[in-house]
Amino acid sequence: MRIIVATRNQGKLKEFERILSPLGYQVVGQEEVCPGVEVEEDGVTFAENAYKKAHEIFLRTGLPAIADDSGLCVDALGGAPGVFSARYAGEPHSDEACNRKLLKNLEGVPAEQRTARFVSAICCVFGEGDTLACEDSCEGTIGFEPRGTGGFGYDPLFLVGEKSFSELSGEEKDAVSHRGKALRTFARMMKERKEHC
Ligand code: IMP
Repeated sequence: MRIIVATRNQGKLKEFERILSPLGYQVVGQEEVCPGVEVEEDGVTFAENAYKKAHEIFLRTGLPAIADDSGLCVDALGGAPGVFSARYAGEPHSDEACNRKLLKNLEGVPAEQRTARFVSAICCVFGEGDTLACEDSCEGTIGFEPRGTGGFGYDPLFLVGEKSFSELSGEEKDAVSHRGKALRTFARMMKERKEHC
């Protein structure tokens, strides 16, 4: 099945490809079919924003479109940056600036209070009123300095056990990550949907 991924984030797109291609999906990024589209992410939940992005790309292409809205929720910051994760350090988006701001805001917070989770809300729009959605998360802690070179976004600061997401291989990250878990749930839901058709 061909599926358009409603994202301009190359890091995310790579993960969609890595996770969905082996499950039989032909993954196409939105830039390939409708370049330059920027969807305003003004929802108050990850799920709302995921629907908004997938719906917009579905409307423009007439093809099934899937989106992930995701972010990092840090307990010591009352759940911030949350849905504002991409814009935490303002526009234009810079991973380095976001990571610097996060470390600054956590200055003086001890290791045991640096708990956090990544959340991923997935929504696929097949047609008007015909959607499939799910959500998952990954628990971890925020480190004291960036570690590793892989991944994107807050990966160098997000620790699962001893290692940051940036220190894991793509496959190791997918096995435990919010997006990996949510996309595997999506694939299971798709299988059930087909069986009921
Ligand atoms: P959005 O879903 O486009 O609003 O952007 C989510 C933002 O959350 C990204 O720009 C990253 O900063 C962050 N984020 C989401 N998932 C991940 C991840 O797997 N690793 C690192 N950062 C992430």
